[in-house]
Amino acid sequence: EKITLSVIKADVGGFVGHSAMHGDLIEEANRRLESAQGRGLIVDFHVTSCGDDLQLIMTHHKKPDNQEIHQLAWDTFKACTDVARKLKLYGAGQDLLADAFSGNVRGMGPGLAEMEFVERTSEPIIIFMADKTSAGAWNLPLYKIFADPFNTAGLVIAPTMHDGFRYEVHDVKGAKRIFFDTPQELYDLLVFIGATGRYLVKAVYARDGEIAAVSSTERLALIAGKYVGKDDPVCVVRSQGKFPAVGEVLEPFTMPHVVEGWMRGSHHGPLMPVPLRHATPSRFDGPPRVIALGFQLAGGRLIGPRDMFDDPGFDEARRLSNTLANHMRSHGPFEPHRLPMDEMEYTTLPQVMDRLKDRWEPLTKK
Ligand code: F6R
Ligand code: MG
Ligand code: MG
Repeated sequence: EKITLSVIKADVGGFVGHSAMHGDLIEEANRRLESAQGRGLIVDFHVTSCGDDLQLIMTHHKKPDNQEIHQLAWDTFKACTDVARKLKLYGAGQDLLADAFSGNVRGMGPGLAEMEFVERTSEPIIIFMADKTSAGAWNLPLYKIFADPFNTAGLVIAPTMHDGFRYEVHDVKGAKRIFFDTPQELYDLLVFIGATGRYLVKAVYARDGEIAAVSSTERLALIAGKYVGKDDPVCVVRSQGKFPAVGEVLEPFTMPHVVEGWMRGSHHGPLMPVPLRHATPSRFDGPPRVIALGFQLAGGRLIGPRDMFDDPGFDEARRLSNTLANHMRSHGPFEPHRLPMDEMEYTTLPQVMDRLKDRWEPLTKK
C-alpha cells in the first residue's frame, strides 16, 4: 500500500513582525490536525514553524493533490489566521491569496511538496524548510545531493546509485516542464537550474522511476502579480539505500550559498542552516534560514523529528554565514546585495521616476 507525505505551508501571521511564530498558532494547528487524525483522514502529522511560516507535515492514503487533504490544510490556515487576528499578529492571513477554497491549495498562496511511495523496510526522510528566501533556493543543494560526486560519495562508490538520477525541472514563468538524466545531461541541466528565478527543480527520481525528492515551486509574486511575501519554500528528500545517505543529503548546507530574499524580499544573502530554536530570522529580517527535520516512517507514522542541523558539524557554516552576511550588508543599497531593479520585490522606482520626469536632460551631440 502506498503512503503519501504532504508538507503544506503558509505564513498566516508573524510574531514579532515577520521573525517567528506565536505558540497559539502551533496549538490551533495541532488541534485541527489531531481531529482530522481522529476522523481517519490522515495517518499522522507534525506541526512546526520556520520563521513566520506555519508548516503542516501530514501522512495519509489519499494521494497528492487530494481535495480533502488540501481543504484540511486551508481550513487550518484559516483557523490559525483567526487566532493571529485576535492577537493582532503581524501580517495575519498574509499568504492566503484566495477568498475561498476551490478544490486545491495550488495557486492559492500556500506552498506544497507532496510525494507518494511504497514505504521501504526503513524509510528515513529529511524535510527542509526555509524562511526569507524564494523557491529557487533548493536548486543548488538538489544538484549537489543527486548529481555532484564531490558531495555525494555514493554516486561513485554505491552500486545502487551509480546509474544516476532524473531531474524534473519546471519553467515557472513559461508554465512547462522538462526531464534531464544525470550524469549524462549534467551540463544541459545546469544551463537551466543555475537561473534560480525561473527554472526550478520540482522533483528528482531514481532511474527506476521511484520518487527521491520533491520541492515546493510556488512563487507568490507570480501568483499575486505583486509582492506579498517571499515563497519560503519546503523540500522533502528520501534517504539511504538507493538514495543518498542522510549525511550526503545534509552536506550541501555546509556551504551557505547566496539566495534571494532577506529584507523585503529584495536582497541577496547566505542561507544559514540552523536548529529549530534558531529559525527566528531577526537580523535585517534574516539572514535567510533553513531547518532540516528528520523522520523515520513506520506504517505512515512520523517517528521523530530529529533536528538535523542541531549539530556542531554545521557551526562553521553558521559562522561563515555571519561573515558573509556582514560583507553583503556592508554594500547597503548597492547591488549585488540589493537585487537588480527588475527582480526587486519592493520598489519606489515608478514614484521617483515620475517625480523627476521633467528634470532629465537628453545626452545629445551638439
Ligand atoms: C521578507 C519579509 C520582511 C518584510 C519587512 C517589511 O520576506 O517578510 O523582510 O518584507 O519586514 O514588512 P512590511 O512591508 O510588512 O512592513
Ligand atoms: Mg510574514
Ligand atoms: Mg516567511
